[in-house]
Amino acid sequence: MFVRNRWVIGNWKMNGTLASNAALLESLSAPKPSVEAQSARLAVCVPAPYLNQTQRALGGTGVLWGAQDLSEHRSGAFTGEVSAAMLKEFGASIVLVGHSERRQYNAESSEDVAAKAAAAFDAGLTPIICVGETLLDREAGVAESTVAAQLAPCAALIQRAGAALVFAYEPVWAIGTGRTATPEQAQAMHAFVRSELASIAPNARDASILYGGSVKAANARELFGQSDIDGGLIGGASLVAADFIAICGSL
Ligand code: 13P
Repeated sequence: MFVRNRWVIGNWKMNGTLASNAALLESLSAPKPSVEAQSARLAVCVPAPYLNQTQRALGGTGVLWGAQDLSEHRSGAFTGEVSAAMLKEFGASIVLVGHSERRQYNAESSEDVAAKAAAAFDAGLTPIICVGETLLDREAGVAESTVAAQLAPCAALIQRAGAALVFAYEPVWAIGTGRTATPEQAQAMHAFVRSELASIAPNARDASILYGGSVKAANARELFGQSDIDGGLIGGASLVAADFIAICGSL
């Protein structure tokens, strides 16, 4: 039987200094036997200027790293953008695409997100494709159709990449609010995402689907124990070494 990969990924967002990162990375680089035994994948997505520092600290430790966004273009006159090839030069193996903060503050459309995910995949990076509804969507009863519409432009990529892709369901109303989706709410949406993926391409049913939104050491185990939840994408708690390591231990 195929075993889906389990992940805990820290999203540092726009936080950190060279000094604070050094301490955090040092604690992540120590061995974590309970996690390694399950061949789970641990990773951090750092601000691009800190990729060099992260590569130096985590190289050879088994902990992976990546960025929080990338350009859909390979190179050229795109001031301020960072390409997949540049991320690869700093040892990145993953990259977030379509995080709700980028959709909201940078007006990224689901078509933009699909183009970025394809650029990442074609360069040998694993895109972590983020989807999720707002509170208004949920209250209007359109949470599932919103998420389905976010996935739809990725259909061609899903058909060729299948289970090599990673998805993250992050309800916008649960991000940074302390208001976590209940395990039942999260499981229900994960099951829906998995059925959508399977309807696009049968082998995409085995893609990893991570939950994000106010995950903490206290709620991680119950969330990760749901049958369609393959781990977590962690914001605030990934900045505190003890909290992040405890969440990793909940896989
Ligand atoms: P919080 O864990 O801070 O709610 O953030 C979740 C998130 O946006 C991770 O990408």
